[in-house]
Amino acid sequence: MLIDTYGRVATDLRVSLTDRCNLRCTYCMPEEGLQWLAKPDLLTDDEIVRLIRIAVTDLGVTEVRFTGGEPLLRPGLVGIVERCAALEPRPRMSLTTNGIGLKRTAAALRSAGLDRVNVSLDTLRPDVFKTLTRRDRHQDVLDGMAAARDAGLTPVKVNAVLMPGLNADEAPDLLAWAIEEGYELRFIEQMPLDAQHGWKRDGMITAGDILESLRTRFELTPEGADERGSAPAERWVVDGGPHTVGVIASVTRPFCRACDRTRLTADGQVRTCLFATEETDLRAALRSDAPDETVAEIWKKAMWGKKAGSGLDDPSFLQPERPMSAIGG
Ligand code: GTP
Ligand code: 5AD
Ligand code: SF4
Repeated sequence: MLIDTYGRVATDLRVSLTDRCNLRCTYCMPEEGLQWLAKPDLLTDDEIVRLIRIAVTDLGVTEVRFTGGEPLLRPGLVGIVERCAALEPRPRMSLTTNGIGLKRTAAALRSAGLDRVNVSLDTLRPDVFKTLTRRDRHQDVLDGMAAARDAGLTPVKVNAVLMPGLNADEAPDLLAWAIEEGYELRFIEQMPLDAQHGWKRDGMITAGDILESLRTRFELTPEGADERGSAPAERWVVDGGPHTVGVIASVTRPFCRACDRTRLTADGQVRTCLFATEETDLRAALRSDAPDETVAEIWKKAMWGKKAGSGLDDPSFLQPERPMSAIGG
């Protein structure tokens, strides 16, 4: 079991499959991209499947999320999903993606055993999409989402980050659209995880702002606390139901006390938190032929050291060196 000194148990593993991305969202990375990890530093497909097997069979992990960068850029993705679906006990598996390429791969991912997807989309306006992501791929994302829905990768959840002066006025439109399309929309507060270190607390749209904007058009009632569990999203029932909208308020309403996550980077480092400033190397253990028990012990020890919270409110807070795209959101 991956338990920490605060009694939290990590049952949700987030695996970053690549730090590369085919978009350049302004809240994430600069126009020129980043210095990507070198191929020999990346875990191989076999190494990834081995670590997931150890997590599932020896460490009590029940949910596996594949992230990036953009995980659809990993050539072996379908094979990795297929091999993980054969594990005993079978973990639930999901993917967090920008949606580009999903049109082509959704059906294969579903057949391989993927359960569902979360797709990022911040705007309904193609011109704003182009400004925000620096790529003209709006329609590809919409097509990818529809393909995921049609392939049964449901519920399809949509993640939206609102930025002042760009898409901050779109919250009600995004919600009306998501309801119409049958997607579950969640807004995410912008976090200090961009490679450029440009985040400013007073420049971000808060959960309070988002709810106020949504209430100009919808009646929102909070969903019962029982239904939340360890989910980062707080949800509201829209206009009496059945649809809901979520807000992931990592900055203004942190949910660290209920956190059930452990993370693995594409180069084989365990992170106990999105905001962790230290990592534990599992790749070195794998490549020195350590047995499963040793790898599991190293992982357990790393999680035991998980801090109480993100530290975002501490005056001494320091943004982690690794940006979001190399951690896996
Ligand atoms: P599901 O609702 O089960 O699909 O999971 P999820 O919301 O965790 O999935 P997703 O990968 O779509 O994550 C959405 C956003 O939640 C991420 O981009 C982060 O902004 C935030 N998030 C995910 N995990 C954490 C975490 O451990 N801590 C914090 N502060 N935010 C997180
Ligand atoms: N703050 C909040 N969310 C972010 N994402 C990427 N960078 C940030 C950030 N700095 C979001 C993406 C995607 C999810 C995995 O994380 O839009 O939906
Ligand atoms: Fe790519 Fe995701 Fe970063 Fe956008 S937020 S540039 S989609 S990794």
